[in-house]
Amino acid sequence: MIPDDAVLIKQGAEARVFHVPSFLTVPEGCIAKERFKKTYRHPDLDQYLTSRRVGQEARSLYRLKKAGLDTPTVYYVDTANATIFMENVIGITVKQRLLETQEENYQSVDIDTLADVIGRSLATMHNLNVIHGDLTTSNLMLRKDKGDAAVVVIDFGLSYNSNLPEDKAVDLYVLERAFASTHPQTEQLFAKILESYFKTSKQQKQISHKLEDVRMRGRKRTMVG
Ligand SMILES: Nc1ncnc2c1ncn2[C@@H]1O[C@H](COP(=O)(O)OP(=O)(O)O)[C@@H](O)[C@H]1O
Ligand SMILES: [Mg+2]
Repeated sequence: MIPDDAVLIKQGAEARVFHVPSFLTVPEGCIAKERFKKTYRHPDLDQYLTSRRVGQEARSLYRLKKAGLDTPTVYYVDTANATIFMENVIGITVKQRLLETQEENYQSVDIDTLADVIGRSLATMHNLNVIHGDLTTSNLMLRKDKGDAAVVVIDFGLSYNSNLPEDKAVDLYVLERAFASTHPQTEQLFAKILESYFKTSKQQKQISHKLEDVRMRGRKRTMVG
């Protein structure tokens, strides 16, 4: 259950995200992410999909954390209420960082460092065969005390396991589209992210080939549609 003093910070299509100010002795409290019922779905199917997603999200967070990737620490999983209690990451999303600095052409952003940490984090995640499923700049956070030098990957609700280069390429393509549609003049930043990603990736050749294919299909689709 969500505690009474919790404050709603985001109402999404699938989940509500709360800040819980008092949690054990953790001074910054915690984040509670609750998946809610979809009334248009059959209750049994809904229950099945919801608990599978919660399980997958918690499992991915835990596996990646254990392997050294910076993800929010999972404190508790309340399966019955489809809620994950996790570390409250103090900082902002990459989306906020880029929107706030867009006007000054991102001058105050340490682009090289930011691209390097994002690329490395995503390659580390893919090397562990975790596909994020929803890579956007709102699902990448920056720790306040580390500036542009530490990215935290969040929101694993659509994640799954796969070692296929194609799945990894699609993950990257989703992020590429997110950059293109949300952040003007970030082509260079994204190119640097890929450069850093491929330096760390264990399937560099296969994924970069697949990324070309996926882009081509994407372009065809926009020309037809
Ligand atoms: N562990 C966390 N620490 C701090 N903020 C978080 C955390 N998890 C989520 N948030 C904030 O809530 C927003 C939505 O959470 P997210 O897990 O991405 O859910 P959604 O599925 O609705 O996108 C994020 O973009 C971020 O701003
Ligand atoms: Mg999200």
